[in-house]
Amino acid sequence: MPFEPPDVLLLGPGPSPTSEAVRRAQAAPLLGHLDPSFLGLLDQVQQQLRALFGTQNRFTLPIAGTGTAGMEAVVANCVEPGDRVVVGVHGVFGQRMAEALRRTGAQVVEVRADFGASLDPAAIAAAVAAAPTAALAVVHAETSTGVLTDLEPLAAIARSAGALFLLDCVTSLAGMPLELDRLGVDAAFSGTQKCLSAPPGLSPVTLSERALAKSAARAQRPPFYFDAALLTGYFGADRAYHHTAPVSMIYALAAALDEVAAEGLPSRADRHRRVAASLRAGLPHLGLQALVPAAQATPMLTTICYPAGVDDKAFRARLRQHHGIEVGGGLGTLAGKVFRVGLMGHGARLENVTTALGAFGLAIEQQGREVDTEGAIRAALVAHDG
Ligand SMILES: Cc1ncc(COP(=O)(O)O)c(C=O)c1O
Repeated sequence: MPFEPPDVLLLGPGPSPTSEAVRRAQAAPLLGHLDPSFLGLLDQVQQQLRALFGTQNRFTLPIAGTGTAGMEAVVANCVEPGDRVVVGVHGVFGQRMAEALRRTGAQVVEVRADFGASLDPAAIAAAVAAAPTAALAVVHAETSTGVLTDLEPLAAIARSAGALFLLDCVTSLAGMPLELDRLGVDAAFSGTQKCLSAPPGLSPVTLSERALAKSAARAQRPPFYFDAALLTGYFGADRAYHHTAPVSMIYALAAALDEVAAEGLPSRADRHRRVAASLRAGLPHLGLQALVPAAQATPMLTTICYPAGVDDKAFRARLRQHHGIEVGGGLGTLAGKVFRVGLMGHGARLENVTTALGAFGLAIEQQGREVDTEGAIRAALVAHDG
């Protein structure tokens, strides 16, 4: 018997729910990865990804692997042993990038902020100015905390130092407009399971000409799987075999990209903003508080602090077992203190907010606290309207 997954509403940090069209696309019969029809689809996917990233970069393609594979591809091509790289670290994914950079032999300088706080551009500027710096790396939407990084000042710092600007866009891509070319971002990676609402397994990556030049000039070739020159051989005009492209995953991504194009990125971004505001409006009625003020927060993921006495494990277990809802737990220093609600892509809908607030209210009540669940739902509906 094939596995039949239970019905779970995915309101965690990813994967997000997929549409039926995306699931159907993934189940279509296979084509060869060098079949002309499939190659046409690949071209279309690359073009649509350029639009979402806000770039003309010829090297814009889905790496076979999750967001972490995209991160490894960026690191492997843009950094070499001995390079000084400044990394903004204010969450688990900044830590991950710093660790990946250290493993390539880079000299990593971490500029830290508390989990839940924003990075300080003045501290980053000082770190970059302290010595010749090859690259500056930050996370745009830090999914472990829900903090959105203001890219404008950081892009200016990287530009004036002549450093490559490397960006984790795993959670922001397709949930808000990105303008990588305007900002001068040299390399970015994302994932398919967040605001794109495709299954996990692909990582859209884009590299500027400057990043490609750095890759070509490395003393040692990058690892075979992530070598930008070899990947260009397949995704570019040559169509040379490099690896067997994950055909079904590309079908699903193409369908997800079509849905984004049909909705339009500005409308999609607006939808994410409005449902996040609705969720926030309901929280005080349940004795809950967002970790990050709305002005600094990611619209696609909201980190919520537990009131004293509410047990994280029991709360999340109740949501999953009684209400069929998945939310995320806290990571790193926030473990046990917060839970994380993703309203991403296909999941960013008002009905999911009201369902979630209703279930949160019941799960908190179950732990002996009084809440106004009806008031929370009413506030969410009013906020969405206004
Ligand atoms: C901001 C950020 N970066 C990187 C990753 C790693 O992506 P993946 O889990 O797809 O490898 C994630 C995953 O949640 C993320 O949220």
